[in-house]
Amino acid sequence: MKRPVITIAQLAAHADQEVTLRGWVYNWRKKGKLRFVILRDGFGYLQCIVFRPEVSDETWETAVELTQETSVEISGKLVADERAPGGYELKADDLKILGTSPEYPLGKKDHGVDFLLNKRHLWLRSKRQHAIMRVRSEAQFAIREYFQSRDYTLIDSPILTPAACEGTSTLFETDYFGEPAFLSQSGQLYLEPAAAALSKVFCFGPTFRAEKSKTRRHLTEFWMVEPEVAWLQFDGLLDLCEDFLSEVVSRILDRCAVDLERLERDTSKLEASTSTPYPRIDYGDAINKLKELGCQIEHGDDFGGDDETLLANLYDRPVLVTRYPADLKAFYMQPDPKDPTRALAVDVLAPEGYGEIIGGSERSASLEHLEKQIKLHGLPREAFEWYLDLRTYGSFPHAGFGMGLERFVSWMCGIPHLREAIPYPRLINRLYP
Ligand code: 4AD
Ligand code: MG
Repeated sequence: MKRPVITIAQLAAHADQEVTLRGWVYNWRKKGKLRFVILRDGFGYLQCIVFRPEVSDETWETAVELTQETSVEISGKLVADERAPGGYELKADDLKILGTSPEYPLGKKDHGVDFLLNKRHLWLRSKRQHAIMRVRSEAQFAIREYFQSRDYTLIDSPILTPAACEGTSTLFETDYFGEPAFLSQSGQLYLEPAAAALSKVFCFGPTFRAEKSKTRRHLTEFWMVEPEVAWLQFDGLLDLCEDFLSEVVSRILDRCAVDLERLERDTSKLEASTSTPYPRIDYGDAINKLKELGCQIEHGDDFGGDDETLLANLYDRPVLVTRYPADLKAFYMQPDPKDPTRALAVDVLAPEGYGEIIGGSERSASLEHLEKQIKLHGLPREAFEWYLDLRTYGSFPHAGFGMGLERFVSWMCGIPHLREAIPYPRLINRLYP
């Protein structure tokens, strides 16, 4: 009788049946006439037991030869067993090696992170990385669902661009048939015209920053989700940030319980972020608070990573810091009508030291103001003619934000460094594998 090939995600539907599984040997141990093999198939982990008196010589010899990460096909009877991890166990009677794995380099001892990053293609097989990748995938799904169920249209912005969006100091330059081109720092400038065409739009893709810093919060290639909404103004933008975040955090808590448990994430620390409102604090008040806490910071300064952590630690959920000095921020922002030295900008700082996860603003609707800003920021006007057209043909108030996926995922998973929140991290000193 041919046995059905199932995955570890399907165990419950096959209790007490004869089945076949394919996967890799995650771990194994021996005890007399028994071999315990933990099989990993990408969906989960299953303990398989090979008992010498009940299997052929050939199967037994195969079981004895197994090494870590050998790929195998294993068959037997699936039994429910409360003591087994995951609640099931396979009483194996047939075992075939599909691919041997001599001296698997990971897992025998604690490795340094550089070694692990060099072996990232294998490191992904570990329990912890597996859980993080699942949370990342669910986060992307939840983010798309949030926007698409609210009538946003997905607009893919280009990656090769003729000009900067977020300042010229972090541009990756490349040669475009003899002309300089840059890898996109943000899809925003391309979303704004799309908002005039489709009203509520978002993009979600890779973005690039030639960050010279080696911090745990910076990657040179990261994924960003950016909504852009016609007629939305600053207060509405703040509501959107908190509604979006609270919903996506709830969804992660609902859908990723198993993964978060594997990561030993204290999810009680995420609960508060599922409800709104989130605290809002004016930039000036934030500076005063930091000074009270003993920080060496003055009005007009940007926050450093430590300042952000101190500020965020005052709250149990993300805090929205609003109205930054205009000269700290990008050229396209709308000045605060009450004080034009400030921009209608918001940064959302995550709790537990995860820092800025969202940056957003109302966009300037004035051609005259933008022309001045482009000059002030030393940007080449020719490269922005198309962008300025938006203010010539039916200018409209609009606003949007960008959230870095890896910062969000790191916060959800409780991992200290962004490099584990993306399958193949790109860092100042890393382009391999
Ligand atoms: O604050 P930023 O630079 O804002 C923009 O790019 C706007 N154009 C977005 C918009 O309004 N549409 O970046 C937005 C977010 C940050 O809050 C952070 O989460 C993430 O992108 N981010 C990075 N993540 C990882 N590594 C880096 N080097 C990052 N730089 C920004
Ligand atoms: Mg920012």
